[in-house]
Order: sequence, then C-alpha cells, then structure tokens
Amino acid sequence: METRLPKIDFPPYEQHGICVSGFKELDHVSIKDTTQPVMVGHTHVDRHPQLIKSIADVCDHLRNAKKQPVKILFAPCSVGYEPLSFARELSERNKLQPDFVQIHALDKNENFLKCAKEFVIPIATLNKERLRNWLQYLDFTQKSPNTLAFIPEITQHIHFKEAQDLYTHEDVYDALVMMNFFYHIDGEQEKHRILHSAFQKASTALTMDKYSYLENPEICLNVAKENGFVFLNKAMRVGCYDPTPGQLFNHLQATFVRADTAKEIGEILKQKIENERAKIYGKNISRDTDSPAP
Ligand SMILES: C[S@@+](CC[C@H](N)C(=O)[O-])C[C@H]1O[C@@H](n2cnc3c(N)ncnc32)[C@H](O)[C@@H]1O
Repeated sequence: METRLPKIDFPPYEQHGICVSGFKELDHVSIKDTTQPVMVGHTHVDRHPQLIKSIADVCDHLRNAKKQPVKILFAPCSVGYEPLSFARELSERNKLQPDFVQIHALDKNENFLKCAKEFVIPIATLNKERLRNWLQYLDFTQKSPNTLAFIPEITQHIHFKEAQDLYTHEDVYDALVMMNFFYHIDGEQEKHRILHSAFQKASTALTMDKYSYLENPEICLNVAKENGFVFLNKAMRVGCYDPTPGQLFNHLQATFVRADTAKEIGEILKQKIENERAKIYGKNISRDTDSPAP
C-alpha cells in the first residue's frame, strides 16, 4: 500500500527584494521581485531534468567537434537554477572541468541575479524528490533558517554576468540555452527580434524549452534557417522520454546547430558507430556491410 507523506508547508524566502515561495499543492515555486510592480516567474532546480541531460549531451558533441572548451550561456537565468542544475549534471558525468565547459548566465533583473550569485537555495524550492537529488551538493553548515547553500565544488564553475538585457548583451557563445522565456514574448515581430538576436549570440548551438518551440515552430524554424542553423536531431536521431504524461518528445527537437557543426557531429558519430561495429563484427563484416547496396 502506498504511504503518502504530508506535503511540506514551504516557508517563504525573502532577500534583496526577492520573495521566493512554494505552493504546496502545485509544487510550483514563485519568485517575485518585490521592488517591481509586477514581476513574477516560476522556477526551481531540476525543472526540466531531461532537457538538462540533453544539453550536456549537446556539449559533449560540441566539445568533440570543436576540440576546445564549450562556452555556454544560460539566458535568462533568473535566480540561477538552470546553470546550477547543469553544473550538477556535468559533475555527475565527471565533466565539470574548465577544459570541457565554461558556464555563463545572465538575466536583466538585478535582484534575481543578486540571489543567484549568493548560491543559496531557499528551502521553499525543494520538495522531497529534489532534495534527494541535491543532497551531496548542499552545504548544511549554513546558519540561515530557510536557505541551504550549494557547495563551492559546483558553484565555482558558474559565472553570473551583471544584470543586462539579452538583446543588448554583446558576447558570443558556442551554445545558448533559452528556457521559459520565448513563450512569454508577445507579438510575432518581437519574437523574430529576440530569436534573431539569440541565434546571433549562439555561434554553434541554441536550445530552448519545448513549450517555446512547440508553440512557435514556424517562427523558430524560419529564423534558425535564416541564421544557417539546422535541427541537431537530424544529425543524431537520439530520442528521450519527456515526463509530460502521454507525450514523447525528443528534446533535441528544440536544439538547433549551425549546419557545418551538425555535419561535423554527424561525421564523428558515423565514425564512432563504424568503430563499434568493427569491434563487434570484426573488420571483414564491417567492410562487407559498407559496400554499396546492389
Ligand atoms: C520565467 S523566468 C525564466 C527563468 C529561467 N530560465 C527558468 O526557467 O527558471 C523569465 C526571466 O526572464 C527575465 N527576462 C525577461 N526579459 C529579459 C530580457 N530581455 N533579457 C534578459 N532577461 C529577461 C526575467 O527577469 C525573468 O527572470
């Protein structure tokens, strides 16, 4: 028989004019800048776990193709839980190293960034499941009653920028991750503008959350094409299961890669598959199957 534990009554977290509170029924975490008239968003660590895993896979491919550390930007990052979730994923893969990746993050809201730079997690954002995933990455020695701190082993790898607008931010990155942002933007013209600017900051890969993509597939595809990007899954054909009930979604469907990089990744993967086949079947069989079909 299933034993249901009572839900935690989350305490609110208030610092730097930011209020973070949890809704116990909905498992939602609301962040609000109390210095602004209206500024509410939802966020928490492990919000899109499969997408974070896909981004780590994408970085693997980019790293192999470029043979240099991958410079990645999470924007907008809000209070920083996406770059932190990503850093944890890389740490689990033993890849959280400067010669593999450089993680950057920005948001236009100064108060959200102040919280992000503190690397604390309001207890309001943790349910039992999330806490289990984060146990070894939290520092329980902190004194604050309603926060826990992330350990420096992961936080030292994340560079938060000063508060700025994504449109006017001038740096260029190998990869840009844009989650839960695009679908908030109103009007086709504005969507074109933000997407163009995003593709121009992402020199090789751009990933967005599935809602942004699925609600605007035409715009995303057209702007990607105009900027010389193609779907990464065309080069990879890797699927993964999304937890949304009844829906199969390949997160790479929302990842675009510059066409020449996609080709390089495709070649590397083809070579890897050939090598594996040769190991399993031996060279002769591998050569036979390579000969053109009659
Ligand atoms: C719904 S939150 C999503 C944050 C984060 N990606 C997540 O999923 O947890 C939207 C964020 O976009 C930021 N934002 C809105 N317009 C922006 C812009 N033009 N440039 C940078 N950040 C922006 C807001 O400050 C807010 O933190």
